[in-house]
Amino acid sequence: MYVYDQFDHAFVQDRINEFSDQVKRRLAGEISEDQFKPLRLMNGVYLQLHAYMLRIAVPYGVLSSAKMRKLAYIARNYDRDFGHFTTRQNLQFNWIKLAEVPEILKHLAEVEMHCLQTSGNCIRNTTTDQFAGAAKDEHDDPRPWGEVIRQWSSNHPEFNFLPRKFKIAITGAEKDRAAIRLHDIGLHLTPQGFDVYVGGGMGRTPALAHCIRKGLPGDKLLSYLEACLRVYNRYGRRDNSYKARIKILVAALGPDEYTRQVEEEWETFDKAAIDVPAAEVARIKSYFPDPAYVDAPFDRVAFERAKTADAAFARWVKNNTHPHKRDDHVSVTISLKPVGLPPGDASSAQMDLMADVADEFGYGELRVSHEQNIILPHVAKRDLYALYAKLDTVNLSTANAGKITDMITCPGLDYCSLANARSIPLSQEISKRFEDANLTDKIGDLQIKISGCINACGHHHVGHIGILGVDKQGVEFYQILLGGRADEKAALGQITGKGLSAEAVPAAIERVVQLYLTLRTSDAERFIDTLERVGRNTFAEALHEPA
Ligand code: HEM
Ligand code: SF4
Repeated sequence: MYVYDQFDHAFVQDRINEFSDQVKRRLAGEISEDQFKPLRLMNGVYLQLHAYMLRIAVPYGVLSSAKMRKLAYIARNYDRDFGHFTTRQNLQFNWIKLAEVPEILKHLAEVEMHCLQTSGNCIRNTTTDQFAGAAKDEHDDPRPWGEVIRQWSSNHPEFNFLPRKFKIAITGAEKDRAAIRLHDIGLHLTPQGFDVYVGGGMGRTPALAHCIRKGLPGDKLLSYLEACLRVYNRYGRRDNSYKARIKILVAALGPDEYTRQVEEEWETFDKAAIDVPAAEVARIKSYFPDPAYVDAPFDRVAFERAKTADAAFARWVKNNTHPHKRDDHVSVTISLKPVGLPPGDASSAQMDLMADVADEFGYGELRVSHEQNIILPHVAKRDLYALYAKLDTVNLSTANAGKITDMITCPGLDYCSLANARSIPLSQEISKRFEDANLTDKIGDLQIKISGCINACGHHHVGHIGILGVDKQGVEFYQILLGGRADEKAALGQITGKGLSAEAVPAAIERVVQLYLTLRTSDAERFIDTLERVGRNTFAEALHEPA
């Protein structure tokens, strides 16, 4: 994990001091909310439906146990005892008092965390694969490159006032677990270098990013990103915030013309002044060593015996572990989606326990996944049962990773001032309907994603089943999309028919799922495969059948 040097500490401290004074002036009434707004947004403070909200950066989703423990401390002492993990691998606190924000920032700085650039029209947290550095199918570790980008983009004078916020994602594996084609820039780290995708995103105008360069060498990464952003900063629309994203510019120019302009720009400037020297890349890489793996002789017989004796454990192992580059280890997904509770929330007690088990079984490392779960990237197989038993004590042992109840859900009308409809209660209703673990397992991998408005925080465009909250003359409705996916075969879902009422949605989804179970050729044919084989229309009809 990257460790701050003197520069980083001083930089964060200066920003805290500056913002503390601004908060004091706001509380004394010396500046208005309008004047304060741009200042607070530079520090991750939003004003939501009921209270101030604080968004904390978790760079490329990587947390240490000490950081997780600090988040628990903040939840307990400054919020209502819980935090909300987001799809952008950050954490949001929803019930923060403005007067306490400076203190919270000081606590965060103690564990090398901050809230800078978690909002505003700048380059936001770069996201990565949650299994980075651990996954069996990985070519190379994306985390050091996430850190290279973080250092380059933090307070970048040219890119602090972009037309809109800007999001970069990197994956270094065969399988895309970072949704790179749905970001402003997506980077695929391959053995030949970076494949660069530009112009993806969700929101009002969803788009898949285009590949504009293949095999870019790492030592040219920053200058190339700089060229991509310069063209956007210069020509991106600023007259209409909905049209200000790079996806609109790439679509307007066409990917070929955009690429030509980027390449032309790239030739004009002194790359050496921007690109990171090899020694610096090596220094940053040295902060991401493998943990000191214990040689963990694995007693397969005892493990199989434990699984036979405890079916719930067996299910959890099957659903919530992921192949590790070492055969005696796995990566573990800790589900934050227990049936009937708000997806992505963790209480302070749960956060503390996750920090403890990370220390005991996971070399002190944790990750936030873009599916709003927590990952222990390195766990020796022999420790799985002990880990499972501890997670179970605080309701963190739900065995549903990747399954129908593992939904991504935005805050919606419960918190968000932009929402048209509720998202969280709907996801709770759906998860209750699929509560039966055997049914969930039978259905297999199926992603439902819910957003409470067109901004698409809940990724509804790329859900196998996407749900979008809309408001029709003061009544909440939900449009259903089918066929989206966020992986290496990324596709946008299509809206089907008329919107449904909240009460009608769970039954409609059940009909679609039942239809899938009758149509699939075998258990191995996932929902999305069947849907792509038979076509969306068949499923759309089932959705809108009278109940
Ligand atoms: C309640 C606080 C929140 C507010 C006010 C908010 C606001 C917004 C807005 C205005 C957009 C649209 C940006 C655009 O024009 O593309 C957006 C997009 C997005 N938000 Fe949120 N959001 C909130 C919470 C969340 C949460 C909790 C998550 C994660 C679960 C999230 C993840 C995202 C993502 C992934 C996008 C995608 C847009 C893109 O394609 O870049 N947001 N949000
Ligand atoms: S999708 Fe809309 S309702 Fe949901 S959090 Fe984003 S802005 Fe709010």
